[in-house]
Amino acid sequence: MTIDVREPAESQESTLRRFRKGSPPDADALCEVRELALRATGVRTYTPRQLDAWVRSRDPASFASALSGDDEIFIVAEDADPGRLSGFASVIIRGRPHLWSLYVHPSRQGRGIGRRLLGAAEAECRALRLNQLNVAAVLTAATFYEAVGYRLVCEFYADLSSGGSEATLITLKHYFKRL
Ligand SMILES: CC(C)(COP(=O)(O)OP(=O)(O)OC[C@H]1O[C@@H](n2cnc3c(N)ncnc32)[C@H](O)[C@@H]1OP(=O)(O)O)[C@@H](O)C(=O)NCCC(=O)NCCS
Repeated sequence: MTIDVREPAESQESTLRRFRKGSPPDADALCEVRELALRATGVRTYTPRQLDAWVRSRDPASFASALSGDDEIFIVAEDADPGRLSGFASVIIRGRPHLWSLYVHPSRQGRGIGRRLLGAAEAECRALRLNQLNVAAVLTAATFYEAVGYRLVCEFYADLSSGGSEATLITLKHYFKRL
């Protein structure tokens, strides 16, 4: 899959090359973009311990495994800078369809890339005849999901570590969109 980006918004023109499906060789780059995006945006809302637990909850090996399987589809935004990624999205398509990742490199945020990655993920869902998308959003991304048409279902707590420590408990918001 290569999603057409012939008409990028003016602000994207110099930074975004194309969208494509992710594959196992992307594992390290996805992990890096995820960590940079989480640390840059989470620093105002979460403690260092929560951020560390969150970052550690997914490593290159788990990305490589997911990228080689069929349960999660990945859409990668390639940067105009060769070898760099602007961001990526992933959707778990088994069971209730769920946006599992949406990360934009801190230096590329605020240019419409997150909106377009999400649009590409929704288009993939529609192509698979999935008619809804759910997301467990962190508080720092809540305004984004509201801006792109998602409806708040409820708030809930999730433990970022396997140890059940209160220090790594964070509030998430469940958003939903009918596709
Ligand atoms: C959330 C994230 C993916 C948004 O990507 P982005 O490329 O910066 O967002 P866009 O430029 O496409 O913004 C789309 C809309 O959301 C709004 N928006 C985006 N981030 C926002 C924020 N933090 N606060 C308020 N509004 C925001 C924009 O104003 C824009 O609205 P508009 O089109 O009406 O002007 C990005 O900030 C990110 O990677 N965050 C860190 C990781 C994260 O929290 N991911 C979500 C996990 S649930």
